[in-house]
Amino acid sequence: MKKLMVLLLTTVIFIGCGEEKKEQKIKLGDYDNSKMVENTTSEEVNDNATLTNNENDMDDQNSEMVEVRIEGNDKMQFNKDKITVPSGKTIKLTLVHVGELPEKVMGHNVVILKKGTDVQKFATEAINFANNNYVPKNAENVIAHTEIIGGGESTTIEFEAPEPGTYTFICSFPGHYVNMQGAFVVE
Ligand code: CO
Repeated sequence: MKKLMVLLLTTVIFIGCGEEKKEQKIKLGDYDNSKMVENTTSEEVNDNATLTNNENDMDDQNSEMVEVRIEGNDKMQFNKDKITVPSGKTIKLTLVHVGELPEKVMGHNVVILKKGTDVQKFATEAINFANNNYVPKNAENVIAHTEIIGGGESTTIEFEAPEPGTYTFICSFPGHYVNMQGAFVVE
C-alpha cells in the first residue's frame, strides 16, 4: 500500500514539471512614427500677401488736392493764425462762419496776399470795394480770395499753391485785418 502511494506522488510531480512554457515575444518594432510630424501650416501663411495693394488708387487721384478749413466767428477772430500747405498742390480752402451775425455787420473772407504787400495799405483800399467782396478789382497782389460771408455760411475756393514761402492772409472786411490775419505757409 505504501509503494502505491509513492508511485502516485512521483507521477504527479512528473506531470507538473513537464509543461512547457512558451514565451510570447511582443514585437515592439515598426511603431516608431514619432518623426512623422510635418510642418503642414507653412503653406497657408502667404495667402494674405496679395490683398493689400489696391487701396491707394483713389489717394493717387486726389493727392494733388489739399483741403484746408478755417473758421471765423462773431468776435472778429479766425480760429487759426497759420495755414500750412505743401507746394505744387491744388488747395481747396473752405471758410466757415461759425457765428450768427449777418454779413454786413460781421462779414468775413480770406484774402491771401503776395509777398511784399503792404497789408495796411491794401486793407484801406479794400474798404472801397464793398460790392466786390472787399477786394480791389484787378488787384495784382492777391493770390486768392473767398467771397464775404455772414454767420452760418461757408464758402470754398480752389487755387494752385504759390511757390514755397510765407504769405499773409487776412479778412479784408473793414477794420478786421488787424485782428484777423495769419501766415499762409507753403512748404
Ligand atoms: Co471778417
